[in-house]
Amino acid sequence: MRVLPIALAVLLSACAQQPPKDDSLYRDLGAMPGITRIVEGMLLNIARDERIVERFRRIDIQRLRNKLIEQFCVEAGGPCTYTGDSMAESHKGQNVSRSDFNALVEDLIASMDKEGIAVAVQNRLIARLAVMRGEVIEQ
Ligand code: HEM
Repeated sequence: MRVLPIALAVLLSACAQQPPKDDSLYRDLGAMPGITRIVEGMLLNIARDERIVERFRRIDIQRLRNKLIEQFCVEAGGPCTYTGDSMAESHKGQNVSRSDFNALVEDLIASMDKEGIAVAVQNRLIARLAVMRGEVIEQ
């Protein structure tokens, strides 16, 4: 009977990673225009964030913007397709630490605050992204 708990764990973690079936979070974030402003605001905050800005200096920031918009849209239950690399792939070799991760989340929260997104709505998006933590950190 050792197989069952493993199968259950795999099933549950797969469920946690499925995008939500309803699009209420997508709508609460302001659909595509709102998500676009949130991502652009987050990237502007990162550009001023001495804790992590160095990591973003030599990358294609336009591509990152586009992939983040797609990803947030999908995670929020919106009508998008994510066409970027997996989280493990794109953060491999970067040695992203827990404090780097927290810094980026703070920059995202500051951007959502500026957009007037309610805290309860913010927390729903953060919860979706928190699931990816293990794939981003120390890869
Ligand atoms: C929940 C947290 C995070 C999410 C959802 C996320 C999401 C993404 C996405 C969608 C991409 C684009 C993949 C592609 O180009 O196909 C990306 C790339 C990247 N991420 Fe993250 N990321 C997170 C955390 C972080 C953190 C904490 C850092 C560093 C402080 C970071 C640094 C980077 C860099 C430098 C790239 C570009 C890699 C390259 O083009 O070679 N990410 N991330």
